[in-house]
Amino acid sequence: MSKVNSKFTWSNPLATVDTVTIYLEEEAYVVPAGVTVAAALLGHDDDHFCQSAADREKRAPYCLMGVCFECLVEINGIKNCQACLEPVLEGMRVKRQHVLMDEKK
Ligand code: FES
Repeated sequence: MSKVNSKFTWSNPLATVDTVTIYLEEEAYVVPAGVTVAAALLGHDDDHFCQSAADREKRAPYCLMGVCFECLVEINGIKNCQACLEPVLEGMRVKRQHVLMDEKK
């Protein structure tokens, strides 16, 4: 963990002043330790996390409590991880899931 100032402007009682670096699509993000992947990425204005298999619409977290499955991402090579339930860890590699787009390549 590092003590670098975060870009976050909101306060989260669960977050500490410590930060970790995670990577979304290989771009580094310094985020507060103790938050979920979904919270960390939403705090950086990420526009979507995955693509719906049903209608191909871009999807973003909705319930933030593990119910809706709108936040599925790939974490460290493991697909279908619920970003709202996974705490950020130093060096974590996160990728958006575009199932239909990926299958067409
Ligand atoms: S945001 Fe609903 S399951 Fe993650």
